[in-house]
Amino acid sequence: MFPAHRPRRLRSSPAIRRLTRETVLAPVHLIQPLFIVPGEGVKNPVASMPGVYQLSIDQALEPARQALALGLGGVILFGVPSVKDAAGSDAVDPEGIVQRAIRAIKRETPELYLLADLCLCEYTSHGHCGLLKGHEVDNDPTLEILGRAAVSYAQAGVDMVAPSGMMDGMVGAIRRALDGAGHESLPILSYAVKYASAFYGPFRDAAESAPQFGDRRSYQMDPANRREALREVDLDLAEGADAVMVKPGLAYLDMVREVRDRVEVPVAAYNVSGEYAMVKAAAERGWIDERRIVLESLTAFRRAGADWILTYHAAQAAQWLREEAPG
Ligand code: PBG
Repeated sequence: MFPAHRPRRLRSSPAIRRLTRETVLAPVHLIQPLFIVPGEGVKNPVASMPGVYQLSIDQALEPARQALALGLGGVILFGVPSVKDAAGSDAVDPEGIVQRAIRAIKRETPELYLLADLCLCEYTSHGHCGLLKGHEVDNDPTLEILGRAAVSYAQAGVDMVAPSGMMDGMVGAIRRALDGAGHESLPILSYAVKYASAFYGPFRDAAESAPQFGDRRSYQMDPANRREALREVDLDLAEGADAVMVKPGLAYLDMVREVRDRVEVPVAAYNVSGEYAMVKAAAERGWIDERRIVLESLTAFRRAGADWILTYHAAQAAQWLREEAPG
């Protein structure tokens, strides 16, 4: 008897394919990034990310309402202040751009889960993720500022902070600062495994955060390294991270799987700006089918083990998923 096995039996109709599908992708798995700028009525398109805008706070309320209505897992805020200085002062200012955005969005949509990225690169004049000593990023003094920023985001009402600066000890320092200020219930999503990647290019336009000199290779990881990533995850969990992230996403799904198999906490993956830009560019030329590419890629993140996916396609993908939802 040949063939003895016929896997096609379980692929023969939409109904059986639906019944045998192993991986589920739903709006709740998706987190939408938003870039917040000062001013009013501002909606600046980001040239390298069609469909993504720098938004003033009033303009961010609509995507927040939409995220809630679509059932997204949440929204993550990136602040782009008008005044940047060497110390990234806006990040710790109670009237800073992100703090004001958090208060406004929480007032408008209290049920929407609201995260804030926590890093100095959007706030420093030099564009590095920490304070400088000469041309080096000075780790330990940076920790104190990150702790203060976390507390001020917590006071503004954020639901989770997501430190992304790859400073040693950042999770522990933020945990201590939050606990010391009575925010022991506020969770930390650590960008534990963050590689020094060319895939962040378009983000740096959106966040106006390109380093003014040098690069981030003294703090972000070498894309060639796997064991080092596992060490970063172990350290962040030991310091009290509640969830961990792998970033970038598509070229690093092997690391998503490794981390998923190693830890018990939720694992997030970031479908970063360069991945988004490539899909948009090819779709604009009619070279690919954007909808199918996006849903396939996001399903691959889930198959690799990502619980949460940060993606610029979040709202759009949630709309597509709704249209596809059976009966
Ligand atoms: C801030 C930060 C970056 C991204 C998220 N948080 C940029 C960087 O490290 O240069 C990248 C996100 C993206 O490319 O979509 N440290």
